[in-house]
Amino acid sequence: MGTARTVPHHIAIVMDGNGRWATKRFLPRVAGHKKGLDVLRACVRHCGDLGVKVLTVFAFSSENWNRPADEVSGLMELLAAALSREVPQLQAEGVRIHFVGDRSALSEKVRSGLAQAEALTAGNHRLVFNVCFNYGGRWDITQAAAQLAARGGEAITELSLSRAMALAHVPDPDLVIRTGGELRISNFLLWQAAYSELYFSDKLWPEFDAAALDKAIADYSRRERRFGRTSEQLAPSARANRKAA
Ligand code: IPE
Ligand code: IPE
Ligand code: MG
Repeated sequence: MGTARTVPHHIAIVMDGNGRWATKRFLPRVAGHKKGLDVLRACVRHCGDLGVKVLTVFAFSSENWNRPADEVSGLMELLAAALSREVPQLQAEGVRIHFVGDRSALSEKVRSGLAQAEALTAGNHRLVFNVCFNYGGRWDITQAAAQLAARGGEAITELSLSRAMALAHVPDPDLVIRTGGELRISNFLLWQAAYSELYFSDKLWPEFDAAALDKAIADYSRRERRFGRTSEQLAPSARANRKAA
């Protein structure tokens, strides 16, 4: 082991900064989202190559409906176009796609596209790719609690609530990255990020390339994850690994 880098099993990303990237170039904000999609495509590939097992991205928040109507419709169109254009390549790369969020507000066309993409890639195991769309951490906790209440009779425990949450199919994220320079969580994985390592980058999402991701992972591999314990309690090998990194 020695200097080997620890690659996170699950990386989650708040892909922020598309609008500013476009505005700096005198382009419409939607052009920034388009560029952001190109960067996301490369990021998925790089994660697969590195051996990351789960990638979760924040693509559209419950609060993003409050944006100007033309930006919201541009984002919906981009999602619809991505569904038809990107899915065959994801399939070829062994990526299993999941959509996470409240689908009830999405158009029938988009909803059937999401379901088809999930069904087509359901047998893939190289990388699980969760796209959070019309997602909010508060929505997730609320819908999980509502499920338990509707089922009735089930004890409310951390485990039962976790199992009703939208990301129950994957372990919690090891590393949460936010690009775009803002130091906030913006209603992303409120429950699941309880013990995630946080990494903030000043790079705007359309500038976040493979080297930037490598840098975030290198930073992560130097962290000591204690989960409430003391440093001395951790396995000696884990400590030695950290010192060597
Ligand atoms: C993130 O980029 C993408 C979405 C929220 C859909 P922004 O559009 O928030 O970009 P900035 O933060 O305005 O630069
Ligand atoms: C968070 O970015 C949501 C996504 C990246 C999809 P925002 O740009 O919406 O967050 P705030 O409004 O700056 O907190
Ligand atoms: Mg933003």
